[in-house]
Amino acid sequence: MYFCNMKRIAPSILSADFGNLQRDIEMLNSSQADYIHVDVMDGVFVPNISFGFPVMETLHRYATKPLDVHLMITHPERYVERFCDAGAWSVGFHLEAVDDPLPILTLIRNKGVRTCLTINPDIDVHRLDPYLSEVDMVLLMSVFAGFGGQKFIDSTLDKVRYVHEQIQKRQLMTLLEVDGGVNLQNAPVLFEAGADVLVAGNAVFKSNDPIDTIRQLKV
Ligand code: DX5
Ligand code: ZN
Repeated sequence: MYFCNMKRIAPSILSADFGNLQRDIEMLNSSQADYIHVDVMDGVFVPNISFGFPVMETLHRYATKPLDVHLMITHPERYVERFCDAGAWSVGFHLEAVDDPLPILTLIRNKGVRTCLTINPDIDVHRLDPYLSEVDMVLLMSVFAGFGGQKFIDSTLDKVRYVHEQIQKRQLMTLLEVDGGVNLQNAPVLFEAGADVLVAGNAVFKSNDPIDTIRQLKV
């Protein structure tokens, strides 16, 4: 049987140079990046504020890679459709930010956009179980949402193995994404553990050669 293990990288635009945003987007366009990860923070769900629709518009205008939107906001139900209309390829929000994720997933799906559910490192990974068949992607945070450049939390690895096993056992197509502190050292281990997509912010943008770093993350 032909087995294709896709290693996908989603550089986080949060770590880009916002004074040269078009240049950085075009750099990603010319790289082997599979998606552009878009970190939206509201200063309430997380103790930081990043950016919103004006930046999303710029990304949509210049990016040729799909936009993987990660909402770190309360009341995502108020904004998911607007992110879909703004050109998102996928829209994800935090399970712990909502009472019932299902109606919000429906709002996204009805826009023809892929769905993603995510959890912070202190949320029991088993809480994702009922939703694995309901979403296109699950995102395991390997740092606490809020800031780029944090250290990878090692215990994430067991969670990656667990979720991967669940997805395999149930023969689902759900993608498994990992976000936070990903670098050239832990990327191969994460792919080996079953991750499909790795987000990388600082590892890409603070390197001397971001295009080559993206290539190396996929090796
Ligand atoms: C953290 C964000 C991450 C972050 C990744 O709240 O969700 O996407 O920007 O950046 P690095 O790879 O630097 O940890
Ligand atoms: Zn993120």
